[in-house]
Amino acid sequence: MTGEAVTPENFRQAWSNFGTGVTVITTPEPDGGTHGMTANGVVSVSLSPPLALACIGHNRNTFPLIKASRRFGLSILGTGQREIARHYTKPPEERDQTATIPFCGLGESTVIGEALAAMDCRVVSEHEAGDHTLFVAEVECLSIGEGEPMLWFQGRFGDFVER
Ligand SMILES: Cc1cc2nc3c(=O)[nH]c(=O)nc-3n(C[C@H](O)[C@H](O)[C@H](O)COP(=O)(O)O)c2cc1C
Repeated sequence: MTGEAVTPENFRQAWSNFGTGVTVITTPEPDGGTHGMTANGVVSVSLSPPLALACIGHNRNTFPLIKASRRFGLSILGTGQREIARHYTKPPEERDQTATIPFCGLGESTVIGEALAAMDCRVVSEHEAGDHTLFVAEVECLSIGEGEPMLWFQGRFGDFVER
């Protein structure tokens, strides 16, 4: 294998080959509303205590909201939730203000209803890493749904196929 110097372009391209699930991270807004963003930079960290990590860019609107509230909801999306995923990849000013998001309450968080799984997370530590911050959070309660996952690969949403 011949190595090449790392650039923002080939770094993005290399990671686009890492197929992942898709989540929406939800955070409370000061006016009582719920803010959302699509995220695949999430990971299960520890079983005891149950810890999850979300990696949030410093230029995201979500970033100061998590900093302030120290909480977030994490919803793992199913295959039928593509429009919700697309909605939350856009900057808020470009989102369809008439879109109806099926929110529901879970513990102290608001999450996406009918997700494959949803978690109510309380931030316990944060670690700055380049232009992102890793928020490590204790999962205080969760809900498990049913269905097939939505996946993300090379800039496209797709479905899981068992071989
Ligand atoms: C599949 C996918 C995964 C993403 N994952 C992340 C992520 O883990 N962290 C992040 O900061 N942005 C991620 N983004 C970008 C945000 O979804 C996007 O910038 C969004 O507009 C941020 O919304 P906000 O600025 O209102 O918080 C992802 C985008 C896509 C399409």
